[in-house]
Amino acid sequence: MLIFANRERNLSDFKKIETMLENPKRYTITAALPYTNGPIHIGHLAGVYVPADIYSRYLRLQGRDVAFICGSDEHGVAISMKAKKEGVSPQEIIDKYDAIIRQSFQDFGISFDNYSRTSAKIHHDTAQEFFKKLYDQGDFIEEVTEQLYDAKAEQFLADRFVTGTCPKCGNEEAYGDQCEKCGSTLNATDLINPKSTITGDIPVMKETKHWFLPLDRYQDFLTKWILEGHAKDWKTNVLGQVKSWLDDGLKPRAVTRDLDWGIDVPVDGAEGKKLYVWFDAPIGYISSTKEWAAREGKNWEDYWKKDDTKLVHFIGKDNIVFHCIIFPAMLKAEGTFIMPDNVPANEFLNLEGNKLSTSKNWAVWLPEYLKDFPEKQDVLRYALTANAPETKDNDFTWKDFQARNNNELAAVYGNFINRVIVLTNKYYDGIVPEPQEFHEIDEQTLAELRAYPAVISSSIERYRFREALGEVMNVARLGNKYLADEEPWKMVKTDPERVKTQMYVALQIATALSVLCEPFLPFTATKLRKILNLETPISWNSVSEEDALLKSGHQIGQAEILFAQIEDSEIEKQVQKLEDSKAANIAAAKTIEPEKDAITFEDFSKMDLRVGTILEATKMPKANKLLVMKIDTGIDVRTIVSGIAESFTPEEVVGKRVTVLVNLAPRTLRGVESQGMVLMTTDAAGNLAFVNPEGENISNGATIN
Ligand code: MF3
Ligand code: ZN
Repeated sequence: MLIFANRERNLSDFKKIETMLENPKRYTITAALPYTNGPIHIGHLAGVYVPADIYSRYLRLQGRDVAFICGSDEHGVAISMKAKKEGVSPQEIIDKYDAIIRQSFQDFGISFDNYSRTSAKIHHDTAQEFFKKLYDQGDFIEEVTEQLYDAKAEQFLADRFVTGTCPKCGNEEAYGDQCEKCGSTLNATDLINPKSTITGDIPVMKETKHWFLPLDRYQDFLTKWILEGHAKDWKTNVLGQVKSWLDDGLKPRAVTRDLDWGIDVPVDGAEGKKLYVWFDAPIGYISSTKEWAAREGKNWEDYWKKDDTKLVHFIGKDNIVFHCIIFPAMLKAEGTFIMPDNVPANEFLNLEGNKLSTSKNWAVWLPEYLKDFPEKQDVLRYALTANAPETKDNDFTWKDFQARNNNELAAVYGNFINRVIVLTNKYYDGIVPEPQEFHEIDEQTLAELRAYPAVISSSIERYRFREALGEVMNVARLGNKYLADEEPWKMVKTDPERVKTQMYVALQIATALSVLCEPFLPFTATKLRKILNLETPISWNSVSEEDALLKSGHQIGQAEILFAQIEDSEIEKQVQKLEDSKAANIAAAKTIEPEKDAITFEDFSKMDLRVGTILEATKMPKANKLLVMKIDTGIDVRTIVSGIAESFTPEEVVGKRVTVLVNLAPRTLRGVESQGMVLMTTDAAGNLAFVNPEGENISNGATIN
């Protein structure tokens, strides 16, 4: 065995490991730990949990040694905020959603070997030990820096506790850790015009001590390992993000926070400080593996430290940097861990043309789905896989969902199984007949069937699950075509001996389907096994072998409907639900903002407001929202950058009379200094208009008071 851990690995070492990994001894498969601040929706399922489950189930059918690991992510600001909003403790929030999420995973057949929680003691211990080891090794930089502080809330602001304008794309609703618009990972102090999400106040700067992981020290390692070593086998969306990070040059990143919810920083002088949630959460994969190993009598270290283990992280695209840069840098610093072999991140799933959103209730929540479509878990798994956002964002629509069920699952898969089972019962009382002489079509069909496991494997092992599922359906199509060509229901009158062979062949296809569909449609596989009366499990590879999958003389059971039709009325009900959410959002947006606190006349007169005219306007390159305008203020001609480009074209605004706040301190937006502000009015629906003074006799520079 090759052991390189703890030492610099060079490229040829990776090549060696890779060759060895073609036949790894064991697999550690992780799925992103969901935040326990809400239930799971279809986006989570499509992006992370279904693909991870398909992969794990497939490997188990191959007889591989698999640890499929997950758990709840119970720290982080999102949870504290939810608790504050609902007036309960964070513990209450995490207990509630941990239970709901666990239930959903179980309901949808996500076959984790272990599902833990980051509030568990084993996780606190593991995360603290990890931090302590890096600390003792001198892997951190300890530094006192100025951070954003909300004086009213008496709290430092980081991550989701602060919003502001993204310095990269101009999105005004970027968070202190990430801009969801352009996907950049940020530090809270990078934000332009930061604002506290707790009080709405503008934060002040205050000194505080933190520990930083100097990511720059791992720049070369990460470049070699990912960009050189995995250029061929990682997804292009993942490589693209990694490359852009590395091209920007990695910088030290704080891994501690001034918060009251989280894991204590286990060193002297860090009283009251917590580990950054993105430091502790991925360690959750390790602690969950420990919990599992202890229960199963395994050695967890085999699954994290041995080079013949294949580690794969299933995540959504917003998690790429954490799994490809930060966590690997942590593992590398620690020194005894292996690196992931792949991080097959998915893009996002939209719903009926709009981004999934918890706050706007624009989602299909799993508990609700199950209430409306009991026992249709596989239909959702199928629709989400067939339409998975593997290479680009994709859209889930209820119409497509219905069509996938009625035209594919029911019409192709269900129909084939039903015919085979009904006819076998009708002709042979459910006993698998003895085949007679094989014709060429029988030989050919069986040969084609035996080729499928390798075809599907190849897609799955390259993380192309939609392609793999398409091939599984082709097995059902093969069966349908065979029956349609052979027409045993006609032949039974003229050549009943021939029909024995035909039904025998069809039954082999049905049995193969029960194995090959299992990773994708586990509930259907179980039902089909029951119908076929199969007690002993059949392995993936045996489908390729010459031996009969279902022997002559075997007694099968009765037909059962695998996929009932989904009616238009059921779909209309779901679409109506979304319409209701839309209406509720519009109603909520219409509420007029309450009056602000009183100010003195003196406060007001500090503002120097003037009449101006827009002379020129251009779009800021690569920023959707920003217009750069030259404005005659009467005093001078100056540049003002304004976030109105989504409402007005440059041509529309040139020549407009506007109100300008001329003594607003200048600020730089994407390298352009904005010297003032053009006053705008915004209504509840988000419509924008200029505040424009009327009157021909008023000239530029006139004051407003
Ligand atoms: N809770 C995070 C999210 O939902 C994912 C955490 S993944 C882990 O985006 F690696 F940190 F565990
Ligand atoms: Zn951005």
